[in-house]
Amino acid sequence: MDKMIVQGGQQLNGKVKTSGAKNSALKVLFATILAEGKHVFKNVPRLKDVESTANLLQSLGLETEWNSDELIVHSKKLTSVEAHYDLVRKMRASILCLGPMLAKYGEAVVSLPGGCAIGSRPIDLHLEAMKALGAEVILKDGYVHAKAKKLKGAHFLFENVTVGGTENMMMAASLAEGTTVLENVAKEPEIVDLAEYLNRMGAKISGFGTSVMKIEGVEKLKAAEHSVMPDRIEAGTLLIAGAITGGEVTVESCNPVHLESLILKLRESGFRVETDKTSVTVFPLKEWEAVDITTAPYPLFPTDLQAQFMALMSLAQGTSVISETVFENRFMHVQELMRLGADITPKSRVAVVRGKPKGLSGAPVMATDLRASASLVLAGLTAKGETQVSRIYHLDRGYEKLENKLSALGAKISRKE
Ligand code: UD1
Repeated sequence: MDKMIVQGGQQLNGKVKTSGAKNSALKVLFATILAEGKHVFKNVPRLKDVESTANLLQSLGLETEWNSDELIVHSKKLTSVEAHYDLVRKMRASILCLGPMLAKYGEAVVSLPGGCAIGSRPIDLHLEAMKALGAEVILKDGYVHAKAKKLKGAHFLFENVTVGGTENMMMAASLAEGTTVLENVAKEPEIVDLAEYLNRMGAKISGFGTSVMKIEGVEKLKAAEHSVMPDRIEAGTLLIAGAITGGEVTVESCNPVHLESLILKLRESGFRVETDKTSVTVFPLKEWEAVDITTAPYPLFPTDLQAQFMALMSLAQGTSVISETVFENRFMHVQELMRLGADITPKSRVAVVRGKPKGLSGAPVMATDLRASASLVLAGLTAKGETQVSRIYHLDRGYEKLENKLSALGAKISRKE
């Protein structure tokens, strides 16, 4: 199993490009089930989760191929409507084949998902949403069995904001008969990216990016082309890498508007942060102030940057209170950060971080989930001596060549088998 070896203490400096967004790429790939033909995607990151999605699509009868930087999906009539446990357990997002299969083929059998171990992460809202469109849904032997001759447009209120639930519903309702109105939907930029792609396929979705979405069902969708939006979580992670090492780092090819909540907190902490149309720069600062964060759906502070921001706060002056409201059990990185010398008290969904501006010290640590791995690498960049992060396969699920990007900025980081 690969490990990441980080020699701490190097200041990062320079420019680094953001890759395409994992959380958008996966969804547009699942949307290809909705329309036969050749779909062409640009700016798709080469990640384990993208590979898992391609494997799942292939198992259903679609063909996928890389053509230099483009990922092409030849969508065909499905040979199977069953998403098998072996493929689904690797990635929670696999549940997103449910809506498209049900809408186009009237049937879907999908294993209950796995993915990052950050809380129980139910799919009840996905299922309630499909039922609202008239589907019959039962759970049997670890699988969701959903059926509907023809989905029918409906009015549906999401009890909680769910990104995946909103996306599943957008794809299903696009081929339903009549109009669907969705309330309390997620407003994440990845939702907007998916809506734009679906509309290019011929869907009639409006209101995306706000909390009420309207979807007029159409009879048929067609294959289309799409360039995946930049990965705001990767961009944020790289920005924090610059901040935590006291360097000047410019993150390019990103959308600073998507990073507003992070930029606000970095500035509150004392960092000078400047934005351009497609880049963000963080400037050197020796000592920064502790600030509090509370994670919440977009446009508020993303749960996917909570662990990385906690690494930054472990070195701040003062005490920071970090509240996680999106997922329960998303503090598994706390124990590992403490192995590096951080002073953190987690209690339920709140962690109190007493900053240690004098620094952390290197140690062997273990990655527990995708974003937790990133926070340990960030902490390792600034810890004295060597930090070994094991179980780095979590990192490979969602970061494209992170060690190469950090090395190019001056980090001493390498991978060891
Ligand atoms: C997506 C992102 C993930 C991010 C999360 C929140 C992808 C592939 N993953 O995950 O990186 O951390 O959004 O921004 O895009 N919930 C229910 N019932 C449901 C569905 C969700 O109770 O049926 C709960 C979840 O347990 C969680 C909250 O709603 O507490 C938000 O989850 P959701 O937005 O659905 O996250 P994902 O789409 O899985």
